[in-house]
Amino acid sequence: MIHGDRVVLRLWRGEDADDLAAGCDDPLTQRFLPFLPSPYTRADANWWITEGAPAALAAGGAAYAIADPATDRVLGGAGFGRKHAGAAEMGYWVAPWARRGGAATAAARMLAAHAFSEGLERLTLRTDPANAASQRVAIAAGFTREGVERGGGRDRDGGRYDQIVWARLDTDADEPTRRLLPDLPGRGLDGGRWSDGELTDGVVTLRPLRAADTDDTHALRSLADVVATSVPPVGPDRDAVSRTCARAEAGWLAGERADLTVRDATTGDYAGEIGLYYLEPPTQQAMIGYSIAPGWRGRGYATRAALLVTEWAFSAVGIARLVAGTAPKNVRSQRVLERAGFRREGYQRSRLPGSDGTRIDDILYALLPPTIAPNP
Ligand SMILES: CC(C)(COP(=O)(O)OP(=O)(O)OC[C@H]1O[C@@H](n2cnc3c(N)ncnc32)[C@H](O)[C@@H]1OP(=O)(O)O)[C@@H](O)C(=O)NCCC(=O)NCCS
Repeated sequence: MIHGDRVVLRLWRGEDADDLAAGCDDPLTQRFLPFLPSPYTRADANWWITEGAPAALAAGGAAYAIADPATDRVLGGAGFGRKHAGAAEMGYWVAPWARRGGAATAAARMLAAHAFSEGLERLTLRTDPANAASQRVAIAAGFTREGVERGGGRDRDGGRYDQIVWARLDTDADEPTRRLLPDLPGRGLDGGRWSDGELTDGVVTLRPLRAADTDDTHALRSLADVVATSVPPVGPDRDAVSRTCARAEAGWLAGERADLTVRDATTGDYAGEIGLYYLEPPTQQAMIGYSIAPGWRGRGYATRAALLVTEWAFSAVGIARLVAGTAPKNVRSQRVLERAGFRREGYQRSRLPGSDGTRIDDILYALLPPTIAPNP
């Protein structure tokens, strides 16, 4: 038994069977733990309590119930597998009645401390790229993202899916891993409703790109003039856009890119997209890119969106130099950048891939934060 303020980790007991079955048969648990039986029945729960978990413990792993310290009710499950050469892999789930309350984060931190106190040197964790909640748990529990294992997981139909690999070493600090891209202001519960946070100037609102934006994003990125400014200039496949949207939060948490939808602040209608791409963290240089849907053009929305993103990039992210590029003939986009304060810095010949093996010239624009004066 491991005691913490938020949760306790304890052995499974016979009377936990109903909660265990309900928690593991829940659609989100089933989606992200595809090795669980489906459906997950009371008989499966009884087997785990009497045979599965005791066998895992006997083999030197860990298999605990996450329980409420006050009521002892099951909130979820957490464990790690058999140790091999000083390393093991951790997993956890939290029941729908306990989610978003910090239970998984507390359990992961306690389990990691327990594993290291038993001599483990490396604890890994694998998350589906679409499972942002679990990636946040990994970050909060001090795990570092190490990469993507392509086709690393096998789902119930025998298909393969990608997995992000995370690890924490016994020498790593017991504190959340540093993120390059913070969340947007306002992220959290607001009057009972969840918000992913936003940036707004009262006319346009920017919100993180999500799976629900797939249709709007696909329609926008399929427009001929948007395709022409894409790298490479090829129209997107709907499945690829769907994957991009479902994984947008993973890219944000990885510190690689902040993908945002541009919305009409009054109606919330989708009006386009803008992104901050953190291409060069060692030099604190990032790039922005945007597209506005045809029905919303000509209203200054791109300029407003660029101003909101640049202000956030300088003040909250700590970007020291922002760049953007436009095609030499794309005068409208050049106007947007100039109105957002960017300066034209150069003409980059053959900068981007064009269609059919050609190359495209690009005009480089850059913007510095208001407080950093460039060398005279
Ligand atoms: C992943 C899971 C265990 C998280 O449990 P939890 O107890 O809700 O997690 P916590 O309350 O500790 O929250 C951890 C973070 O995730 C965030 N979070 C929770 N649900 C979220 C969601 N649906 N989308 C995005 N973020 C979410 C929380 O806000 C918190 O982030 P923050 O600290 O940056 O604000 C739970 O969603 C779950 O059981 N999912 C199904 C099984 C699973 O995915 N297991 C892990 C497999 S790798």
